[in-house]
This record gives sequence, structure tokens and C-alpha cells, in this order.
Amino acid sequence: MTPREQEIARRILMSESRVTKAVFPPTTNHHNTLFGGTALAWMDEVSFITATRFCRLPLVTVSSDRIDFKHPIPAGSIVELVGRVVHVGNTSLKVEVEVFVEDMYRPVREKAISGLFSFVAIGEDKRPVQVLPEFAKASSETA
Ligand SMILES: CC(C)(COP(=O)(O)OP(=O)(O)OC[C@H]1O[C@@H](n2cnc3c(N)ncnc32)[C@H](O)[C@@H]1OP(=O)(O)O)[C@@H](O)C(=O)NCCC(=O)NCCS
Repeated sequence: MTPREQEIARRILMSESRVTKAVFPPTTNHHNTLFGGTALAWMDEVSFITATRFCRLPLVTVSSDRIDFKHPIPAGSIVELVGRVVHVGNTSLKVEVEVFVEDMYRPVREKAISGLFSFVAIGEDKRPVQVLPEFAKASSETA
């Protein structure tokens, strides 16, 4: 493992972020399940926190890849969002967010949503900067 790879592995562990929410009426739709837009906003927030903890630099969201809604999330359940950095480029990061739904009164938990969010670190001029300036990628390494 190169020093850069070691540092990435360390920061991935350190930056993993978990947010737990209760699904109450203000966040539900007419099916009495979690509104998709609310789920996306929560996922965007946890992915941003994860990416920021990883590099401690100003970031902007550059894309969100495919989001899979596998199971509805009923009102009155608990959800846990888990963000984890899964790719580190030169100036960009990809964060996977998994959303788990948990019954309040039974120990039942399953993955309900997953998605991938990409961020770019920017400098004062709003242009991309290295996410790991102390560990710049060797020119032979691929993105
Ligand atoms: C983010 C931004 C500065 C990037 O500028 P750019 O000229 O496209 O930058 P580059 O082409 O040099 O690409 C920079 C990095 O972003 C990545 N990137 C660019 N577009 C991307 C996309 N659609 N999806 C994933 N990654 C992308 C590139 O692969 C590159 O990654 P790397 O350096 O790790 O190899 C610019 O697109 C921007 O300001 N976008 C608006 C961001 C915003 O307002 N977000 C919403 C609010 S936070």
C-alpha cells in the first residue's frame, strides 16, 4: 500500500457517518410512507457530512448517480443513513449512502434505499483543488 492508499483507508474509516431519524407525519406522503424528496435531502446531507469529514475542505455536489428505492419506509419507523467514501479521485470524492429502515417495536432492519453522490473540492476561486494535497496522485496512477 502506498502512503496515499494508507491515508485514504484511514480517512474512510474516520469519516463514515451515521444519522438516525424517526419517520413522523411531516416527512410522509399520501401513502403514509417517507416522502422520496425528504429521503433524498437526508441522503444529500449525510453524504456531504461524510465527504467533508474525509477531506475537511469546501465541497460542492457535482452529481448524484442512480438512487434505488427498494422498499417503502412506513410512517412510525426508524431510519438510519450510513455514508461512506467509496472513491477518491484528484479533486473529487464519491460517497455511497445506504438507508436502513427499522421497525420501532421489533428488531427488524433492512436496506431500503441506496445512492451515490459525487463531490468536488473547490478553492477560493470556486475551481477544483486536490482533495488530498499532501498526498498528490502519482501521474502513473489512474483516476
Ligand atoms: C464542481 C465544478 C467546480 C467542477 O468544475 P469542472 O470544470 O467540471 O471540473 P473538472 O472537469 O476539472 O472536473 C473536476 C473533477 O470533477 C469530476 N466531475 C466533473 N463532473 C462530474 C460529474 N458529473 N460526475 C462526477 N464527477 C464529475 C471530474 O471527474 C474531476 O474529478 P477528479 O479531479 O477527481 O478526476 C463545477 O462543475 C461546478 O461549479 N458545478 C456546480 C456545483 C454546484 O453548484 N453544486 C450544487 C450546490 S453544492
